Amino acid sequence: MRIVLGVSGGIAAYKSALLLRLLTEAGHDVRVVPTRASLEFVGLATWEALSGHPVSTEVFEDVPHVPHVSLGKSADLVVVAPATADLLSRAATGRADDLLTATLLTARCPVLVAPAMHTEMWEHPATVANVRTLRERGVHVLEPASGRLTGADTGPGRMPDPEVVAAAALALVEPAEPSPAQDLAGMPVVVSAGGPREPLDPVRYLGNRSSGRQGYALARAARARGARVTLVTANVALPVPEGVEALPVETTEQLRDAVRAAAKDADVVVMAAAVADFRPASSATSKIKKSGGDPLVLRLGQNPDILAELAAERLRPGQVVVGFAAETGDDGASVLEHGRAKALRKRADLLVVNAVGAGRGFGTADNDITILDRDAEVVATASGSKDVVADRVWDAVLAHL
Ligand code: CTP
Repeated sequence: MRIVLGVSGGIAAYKSALLLRLLTEAGHDVRVVPTRASLEFVGLATWEALSGHPVSTEVFEDVPHVPHVSLGKSADLVVVAPATADLLSRAATGRADDLLTATLLTARCPVLVAPAMHTEMWEHPATVANVRTLRERGVHVLEPASGRLTGADTGPGRMPDPEVVAAAALALVEPAEPSPAQDLAGMPVVVSAGGPREPLDPVRYLGNRSSGRQGYALARAARARGARVTLVTANVALPVPEGVEALPVETTEQLRDAVRAAAKDADVVVMAAAVADFRPASSATSKIKKSGGDPLVLRLGQNPDILAELAAERLRPGQVVVGFAAETGDDGASVLEHGRAKALRKRADLLVVNAVGAGRGFGTADNDITILDRDAEVVATASGSKDVVADRVWDAVLAHL
């Protein structure tokens, strides 16, 4: 597919280098059209090297090929990221004073813009009117993300992450996937994901390598099947799946409180978080210092077992409680034997036994799982991407319900 990536003059232009990479790696031919001002942030050489095409900002370059008409006419998709207040204004009034705005006038394909500017500029009535005009004309204007802006200020105005822009842009032109069966329609479910961090002192913590990918895949799959998903997420650096309510937490205690509060109204609770078994018996209020060459001895106390508590208490009658068991196997017992012992110990309705270590499980794209019931009987097995595994887990939940 031929994509035009317009870049206007905001600090977020650097994020578009990654956006360009994502689009080219997805197999698309991308022509970058920066505005003059954007070259203050990212230079021509970057765009030419990453796109593999010559790049210009002006309508009076390469005139024999009439780029100000041909680029827009031949594009299958135009993405403008970042789109500044000035670019939105020029696009809304139909100006053609540089190659990017001329391209926007000649394009007849889907156009997506990702605004980025200070909150005051985004909320100004002039910008609001320009965005409305563009949307009325069929331009897809993403909402900016909230967070830290260029200076010390925070608020709505950040360009959404490149992954989010790329997914939104490609969704406009790629054939929609057949929508999955809505077999969890309206069902309230809770998924925990990631790994809590237990503070040792104000700057250090005990944690683990959980990426949160499996939990996020479970949340995404449930949402796609119609569930109302609450995702309790501990230190995960992934975009929250669309339509999912995320409750970010840091420690095991916070995770336990958030899961239990949400579980009161949930038909299913899936504990995919890699909960810390231990936490420092006490957390120092100031940074722990070296004392000569002496080893530092840490005293650890045990965390509550959230899964076992949920399985024993049933915060809502008939609730299905699902646990994960990350196992490596050892000389004493295999992965499955450890999983069986855990199923009998924790008494969750379903336990998803997940082989980790040696390149499997944590942080990797693929999983190998066996699903056991509370009597440690095998009810299903699956292997494949975390998305495939997630769907098999929800199939098993449905069969259990
Ligand atoms: N879990 C929990 N609370 C804990 C520890 C684990 O809720 N304090 C949950 C996890 O979310 C997971 C399941 O229990 O769903 C199994 O986690 P795992 O770490 O494999 O089990 P552990 O109880 O830690 O068992 P062990 O360390 O003995 O293997």
